[in-house]
Amino acid sequence: MSKVRIYTLAKDLGVENQRMLEILDGLGVSYKSVSSTIEEETVDLIKQILAEESTEAATETVAAEAAPAVSAPEAPAKAGSDDVAPVASSEAPAASATAEIPHRAPVVTIMGHVDHGKTSLLDYIRKTKVAAKEAGGITQHVGAFEAQTSKGRIVFIDTPGHEAFTTIRARGANVADIAIIVIAADDSLMPQTREAIAHAQAAKVPMIIAINKVDLPQADPDRVKTDLTQLNLVPEEYGGDLVVVPVSAKTGEGVEELLEYISLTAELEDLRADPKAAFGGVIIEGRVDRQQGVLATVMVQEGTLHVGDFLVVGENYGKIKAMNDSNGARIKEAGPSTPVQILGFSDVPNSGEKVASAKNEHAAREVVASRQSDRRDVENARVQRRKTLEEMMGP
Ligand code: GTP
Ligand code: MG
Repeated sequence: MSKVRIYTLAKDLGVENQRMLEILDGLGVSYKSVSSTIEEETVDLIKQILAEESTEAATETVAAEAAPAVSAPEAPAKAGSDDVAPVASSEAPAASATAEIPHRAPVVTIMGHVDHGKTSLLDYIRKTKVAAKEAGGITQHVGAFEAQTSKGRIVFIDTPGHEAFTTIRARGANVADIAIIVIAADDSLMPQTREAIAHAQAAKVPMIIAINKVDLPQADPDRVKTDLTQLNLVPEEYGGDLVVVPVSAKTGEGVEELLEYISLTAELEDLRADPKAAFGGVIIEGRVDRQQGVLATVMVQEGTLHVGDFLVVGENYGKIKAMNDSNGARIKEAGPSTPVQILGFSDVPNSGEKVASAKNEHAAREVVASRQSDRRDVENARVQRRKTLEEMMGP
């Protein structure tokens, strides 16, 4: 009896992974993730269930089409709702509420120990997957980029592995939907690998392990898996639920599989954002360019940014004078899950800070003024407390 992976079966049968998991739940079959395998008998049962569902749907549609006027009162309504979405009518309102909010691309942060190959891995993905656009204009230095892959659009954030950059890694984990922990196959788990894993766990972000440099003769992926087990992270092939993908940033081995796992994880997370909502985003990085002035990389999380919009970050505001996508192309607007580089702030914003938009310059100034006054109040209160304490202590 051969076993079948859940996502492979879902693909073969043309069913969403989520639906497949619902059927398994209904059958009381346990699984760890969509990459878990199931028995052939279960496969037969699933096929039976799906066949019954499609026969029922077909019968209802035929009944509704054949006799719309004389059918039982509930029949047209039921057939109608089935046409819209294959969900039970009791769940329809909730389901249609989320269905209106479109899916968004996953934001994937790459973390790991210094020199384990994070940037090389991203370079490989970028080189082969990003539609070739000439880099020009203001983008040369973004830690975030979007890639059109065979699995759809994916947004990647690179982070440094050097021990000095703990806060950057923590912030990277916080904006991520998925964390890829890169571990070199010739070096295994190192201090910043453990740190990166801890950040992903603290941020409650699903993790995928990429064992990199498997092309090296001294590569020992099994040692990496055993070492992970000691952290209570058990790879799937050892019976756990940790997805581990051996890759090489040099040869490209395993990269397609890694992208596949990213898209599967994203599908299960059901990531959505409303491009029509009020804008919300976060600063990925800010810096000064000698020729152009202050440049800020912003991740759009909610709503849509337009050139000319006023933005407020902390006690700093600015008007978007120009905006580039991560490939260096000038763009006029950017929707959810898009990293953009913005020209228009007068001061360098801090990484990790929230960005909001304001209706006009007046509104932006007001938000900044109220934040400044709130901060002064807090500072004055602190000074007052210290004075009172000193008075109580006496001379
Ligand atoms: P930091 O950003 O400093 O933390 O390093 P990093 O993790 O981004 O590593 P980087 O991509 O800079 O790679 C470090 C070194 O490993 C470079 O010399 C790469 O050429 C090499 N390297 C990266 N990936 C591979 C790989 O898959 N195979 C081999 N043989 N070498 C690799
Ligand atoms: Mg790097």
